[in-house]
Order: sequence, then C-alpha cells, then structure tokens
Amino acid sequence: MRIAVIGSGGREHAIVEALASEKKHEIYAFPGNGGTAASAVNISVHGDSSDELLEAVLTQQCEMAIIGPEKPLVEGLADRLREKGLTVLGPGAGAARIEGSKVWAKKFMERHHIPTAGYKAFHAFEEALEYVRSGLSYPAVIKADGLAAGKGVVIVENAREAEQSLLDIMVEKQFGAAGDMVEIEEFLKGTETSYLVFCDGDNFLPMVTSKDYKKVYDGDRGLNTGGMGTFSPSPLVDEMLENIVQETIVRKAVEGFKEEGIPFTGVLYAGLMLTEEGPKVLEFNCRFGDPETQVILPRLKTPLSEVVQAVHEKKLKTFRLEWDPRPAVCIIAASSGYPVSYQKGKPVTGLDRVKQGIVYHAGTQKKEGKIYTSGGRVLGVTALGDSLEEARTTAYREIEKVTFEGIYYRKDIGLL
Ligand code: AMP
Ligand code: GLY
Repeated sequence: MRIAVIGSGGREHAIVEALASEKKHEIYAFPGNGGTAASAVNISVHGDSSDELLEAVLTQQCEMAIIGPEKPLVEGLADRLREKGLTVLGPGAGAARIEGSKVWAKKFMERHHIPTAGYKAFHAFEEALEYVRSGLSYPAVIKADGLAAGKGVVIVENAREAEQSLLDIMVEKQFGAAGDMVEIEEFLKGTETSYLVFCDGDNFLPMVTSKDYKKVYDGDRGLNTGGMGTFSPSPLVDEMLENIVQETIVRKAVEGFKEEGIPFTGVLYAGLMLTEEGPKVLEFNCRFGDPETQVILPRLKTPLSEVVQAVHEKKLKTFRLEWDPRPAVCIIAASSGYPVSYQKGKPVTGLDRVKQGIVYHAGTQKKEGKIYTSGGRVLGVTALGDSLEEARTTAYREIEKVTFEGIYYRKDIGLL
C-alpha cells in the first residue's frame, strides 16, 4: 500500500519505521527528516498548511495517511483526505478542537463530567486582569486558548507574574492569535502521566502506558519542552488506576464526541495529573505524543497499518493489540540552548555505532549522504530491555556513541 506519514519529528520517524517493518508498503513522508529518508521517500512540502499537504499526498496517490502533528488535524486535513477516499488515522476538524482550543476542551469536559482542573475563560484582557486582581490562589496556571507549539502554558507564582503573562499573551500576542482567549486554571498537584488510545468513533483500544519528561533539566527543572524522554510502561498506572482512567475519562470523552456528532477517529491522548483525588485531565491531544510514540510503537507487535485499517472500518470492538512485554526507554538528544535558541547545521556522527538501540531522527537533515542538525530536539535513542533499568542502561550506553556540537540530554530519564 502507498502510505503517507505527515510530519517531520521523531514521532513520525517512529511511525515510518513501524510501517517499514511490515515490509510491504511504499511509504512517503511529508516532509519527513534525515532519518525517515532511509525507509520512506521524503516529499518536500512548501509550508505546513493543510492545502499544501493535501495536494502533495494526492499527487503521490497515497491510499492511507497517518497524520502526526496537531496543526493539520485542527485545519481539517483528515476530513479532506477521507473525502478523497483515503484511510486516515486522525480526527476531523470538529473533534480536533479538543486540542485546538483549550477553552473548547474545558467546556467539552464540563459537558461530559470529565475530571479536570477548575477554570475560568476570558476574551478580554481587562476582565482577565480584574479576575487576577480579585485574588487568586497561587501557583495558578494561565493558558493561551489556541495552538502555541506546546508553549502557551505558564505557571505563575504571584499576581505580578499573572498580570505579566496576561499582558504577554493577550496584549503583546506572544503566541499570536492563540492568545485571543485565555483560561486561568487551578494548579493541580501530583504526578503526570500520558494515556493514549486508538479510537474508531465508537470504541477505543488503549496503548501501553507511558510517561514523558517535559522539563529541560534533570529533576524536572527549567523550561517546558516538547519532551526530553519517555519510558513505557508507567509503573504509576496499575490495573485499577487504568480502569478508573478508562471509565471516568476516556470512555466519557469517546461517548461525548459521538453524542455531539463529531466521532473521534484517531489517537486520543490524555495528559493526566494523578492527584490525591484521582486522575484529572491536564489536556487532551488529538494525535500521537512525541516522544511517547518512540517508546510505544517499538512495543507494538500488531502491524500498524492493520490498526489504522481497523480504526477506519470501526472494528476496534473486536480487534486485539499485541504488545512486546519488555519496557522501553527513549532519551532525546537536543541542541544546547533548546527550547530557547540553539544552533543548527552541525554534523551528527556515531549513528552507525548504535547497535542495540533504535535512533529516531527529529531535527535532522540529510545532505550529500551526511546527517546534520536542523532543529532543537535532534534525535532520540530508544532501547528495550528485560527491565526498565536494563532498557535505561542500554539507551544511555547507545546515545553516548552519538555526537554533535552542543549535544545535550537529560541523565535521569527512566529513574522514577
Ligand atoms: P498542557 O499543554 O495543558 O498539558 O500544559 C503543559 C504542562 O503544564 C503540563 O504538562 C503540566 O506540566 C503543566 N500544567 C498544565 N496545566 C496544569 C495544571 N492545571 N496544574 C499543574 N500543572 C499544569
Ligand atoms: N509529549 C507531549 C506531546 O506530545 O504533546
């Protein structure tokens, strides 16, 4: 089958490799990266708008499409590809609002009684300011409503910081139109975990559990990033907790989408805070996580294309997923200075020495047979092991073989 993979990160490289392991597809990456080029044909796209992507995928006559990033999903690429007869993994624009608008997501959770942090939404800067001045308890969380590449969330410690971030988001438009609305929410205490499911509109099938490290430095210090590493499974989520998450969160969401006439067809990702009062939703994403995918897909034994087909045919009720029981750890190597400013164009060496891990490229580019850095998160190394500790030891041993100027990675991925 001719399969399109949309996106250019480590997540998309992991999707490409999962499909390539089936050894029977022609895979096209739009636009892909220096790593996807080995197993797929990279198709360069001018820009990342859904118009450009639609045209490119149709030109390659792909029959199936897996959409990695949120932006094209929110813009309706999945709807448009389905209209053209493709088998697509990814929700339509209606359901993708769960990620595209934080205020919409909060209202959806309210309508369907899904546990989440208390909040208030504001269109006008003055009203938000008045609310802050009327007295908040701190820390508090301020979120830009729209897509902000994972950066539109600020945790504020006092009124001065709260006023400043409202000014940055709503007046200075630090995140552009994403800041036309904000929501101010209650700070939740607990441990974070990611819970991803495949969803066919009626039923869902959980993936293995995973945990992501969002902060740039060891010990969860520093700025939020796209994710500096992951492991799977998450020992924090036992069977009982998993049942609670499924019944109080995932099932309600899946039924909610259906009731509202926007059935969710794709990957639903719940970012959870495990609080003393039980699991609560921090955010929903309408796609695979990055770098969660880099520890989930290497454990998936069922051919990914068959899962996508089962989602499309609404067969998840009777479909079964088979998983490798071995834990996996993924360590992300970034360019120093990420997530603020960093250099690009540095040669990457040592990739051929990685034998026991899988290298998933993210911000890399291939030029004349050589790999160069082209982004903040450059690549990830995933290793499987008989225990989490073994997977972790192998992943660190393997990533040490890779070098580029300014390479930086956390040293505590996989330590609980
Ligand atoms: P989000 O993009 O909404 O998941 O937020 C990004 C990160 O901000 C999360 O992964 C959490 O670490 C943190 N965060 C978001 N909302 C809250 C909250 N209500 N309480 C505590 N931390 C939060
Ligand atoms: N790992 C966080 C995300 O994909 O949003």
